Amino acid sequence: MYIQELWSENRDVSHLEIIGSLLRKELQKHRVVRKDMSYLGLMIEDWWAQLSNKDCSNRNINQLRQFIEKNLLPQELVVIRSIGLETSGVVGVLYENLFNTEDRNLAFLVHEAMTHIAGVLDIQYPYEDHKEIFPKQDQGIVTDWDKGYGIIRPHSDGIYEGRDISGICLTVCKDISATPTWFWFQKDIVKELTDDDLGYLAMSRATYISGTNVEDKVIKSTKPILRIDEREGISLRLDFRIDDAVGPRMQLQDERAQRIFDKMRASLKTIKPTASKPSTGSVGILANLKILHGRGPLDFNLLSEGENSRILFRSKGIR
Ligand SMILES: [Fe+2]
Repeated sequence: MYIQELWSENRDVSHLEIIGSLLRKELQKHRVVRKDMSYLGLMIEDWWAQLSNKDCSNRNINQLRQFIEKNLLPQELVVIRSIGLETSGVVGVLYENLFNTEDRNLAFLVHEAMTHIAGVLDIQYPYEDHKEIFPKQDQGIVTDWDKGYGIIRPHSDGIYEGRDISGICLTVCKDISATPTWFWFQKDIVKELTDDDLGYLAMSRATYISGTNVEDKVIKSTKPILRIDEREGISLRLDFRIDDAVGPRMQLQDERAQRIFDKMRASLKTIKPTASKPSTGSVGILANLKILHGRGPLDFNLLSEGENSRILFRSKGIR
């Protein structure tokens, strides 16, 4: 809260450097936990094998949720529930081998169970089919869209929405192209900026615009770039996507803010992102507004099974 008070009390530009320095210190605390969950994956596979009615019913989701909560190591449960909280510093977990059978229903059940355990309340927007992600064959190379084949630049989901989407969950059902999702820490994205520039950016506003993902309309929202939340602490609202239809998804308020943003964009190529394991049974739960995600292009040649080549489940919502 100190940062906001420092600025709102007197709006003194000499404070920008202090604000930038404080913000950088906060971002430095962010970390991702990666873990092989084979011990639990084997139990889930047994549960699945014995399940008589292998459908996607709420009954099965709840049963699996309880099963996972019972068998998950208690310290894991603590970590999952602390994702994105100011006090924890954990901005994401990347779990591997939570299951290994390539089955849509099993992947969906695990995805839903983990999403519920993490406390992510998925929001279904009427204008976006967001839960199941697969490469749409009839779309060609569309960039910055999760169903296109082109690259997806670093971003946080749904900043253009009125309500902040603080949590996302991403589950790999199958991916014969083995294309990882990449994650960028905000501390890395801002590392080329001076404290003064970082302070200026944080105190600026930007307009966030929906893209190809939203059907038949464009949603816009102007917000402060710095997000301050009582439980989740501080983060930056950033989106580097350039939509084929609407252009840059994040528009800065003035020339200086734009220059700073461009500097960050230029530095992206020097940052090594954290990569998910692109195989069946990988589940990532991320603090959407604290760590950015994206991926490289999908290789046509590796997608011989068409839309069935790569199936991911994604939930996004409040926590
Ligand atoms: Fe996304």
